[in-house]
Amino acid sequence: MKSFDALESNVRWYCRRWPTVFTAASGSVITDENGVEYLDFFAGAGALSYGHNNPLFVEAAIEHLRSGRLLHSLDTFTVEKRDFLDTISRTILAPRQLDMVVQTVGPTGATAVEAALQLAQRLTGHRAVLGFEGGYHGMSYRAASISASMAGRETSAHLKDFVALPYVKHVTDADIELLDATLRATVNGQRIGVVIIEPTQGEGGARPFDPVYLAAIRRITSELGILVIADEIQAGVGRTGPFFSFEGSSLDPDIICVSKSISGLGLPMAINLVRRSLDTWNPGEFSGTFRGNNLAFKTSATMLNHYWSDATLEKNTELFGHTTRTALEAMAESFGAGTFDVRGNGMLNGLDVRETELATAISRHAFERGLIVETCGPGDTIVKLLTPLVIEPAQLDEGLRRLALAVEQATSAR
Ligand SMILES: Cc1ncc(COP(=O)(O)O)c(C=O)c1O
Repeated sequence: MKSFDALESNVRWYCRRWPTVFTAASGSVITDENGVEYLDFFAGAGALSYGHNNPLFVEAAIEHLRSGRLLHSLDTFTVEKRDFLDTISRTILAPRQLDMVVQTVGPTGATAVEAALQLAQRLTGHRAVLGFEGGYHGMSYRAASISASMAGRETSAHLKDFVALPYVKHVTDADIELLDATLRATVNGQRIGVVIIEPTQGEGGARPFDPVYLAAIRRITSELGILVIADEIQAGVGRTGPFFSFEGSSLDPDIICVSKSISGLGLPMAINLVRRSLDTWNPGEFSGTFRGNNLAFKTSATMLNHYWSDATLEKNTELFGHTTRTALEAMAESFGAGTFDVRGNGMLNGLDVRETELATAISRHAFERGLIVETCGPGDTIVKLLTPLVIEPAQLDEGLRRLALAVEQATSAR
């Protein structure tokens, strides 16, 4: 650990929670340099939904590296980008009747959010943004400014023309009235031009919005000429079952931000899907050196072809999600004394234990038992599970068993 202590910035975080040096990873298992194996229910903060070193993508990447084709290409045309565009169109856009174009932004989720906000604000001419409490959109200036409950917002100077409404689990008339009134009002003298929402919140604590509320957002924004950005960076690419977490609602976003697991292999890659009629960018108006990661285009096309040509993965994710929430509910009942809350959607799930220290202790005890889980949410009280979608059923059961033991240990020590 000496090198890290001496040379790495104090800002390092996850390594404090999991203080060991990792050497290898395969599927849902990571191994450290002492040979200890950990079940990974964190999955690269959602960037490894398809597991570590998925052999399909590794083979595709090796083939690409040996081919002599381009690795870096900004936004010039390449064979890999063409294959990626054709594949996402065939597997994702066309089946969902999404008449959208792909904007490659790179390489982080925050960059996608920046681009989406810039386009939306330019299109509407209105600067103010409506977001939601518990929302998280990244650490760049603008993305942190609209991340309503995160530390980044408190520590960075933030935009004044932003307003956040509460998360809505079960919609009431009062929620719709507040939404309607807020969208019609001004923020700091500015009219609202765009709503940004994670249809299922990730960092906010694995919280799906009521689909009826999502429908209301679309109805009122359409009436007022306000655009809707769905931030699907964490909940998208199959995490909640369907490819997008808003599917099944009538949110019908104008811009969809996608990143994290979109490359399949965990490579840096981010895109925005933009409604064709709104694609009014001037050539070169939004730029970025790392927009053309051809290795990521290649592995992404492989992922989309393999996992999104039929509904097998989606159905399996729903099944695994059910197994996970059943186990979490049993933990809540056995150890929560009526105070714990289970939430989630597909394979984005959480156990809110209501206390920061308790959630931290559960994560620590889980690690000691060979299970990697993080905490999240306002106050960091939620143990969050981002289990790989491709996990073996026996590994899922074993991980949940270890988590139950960690919860038991942490609660009995109080
Ligand atoms: C919903 C959501 N949006 C945006 C981001 C920012 O992505 P990145 O860390 O790649 O900038 C994250 C990261 O956790 C996220 O969960």
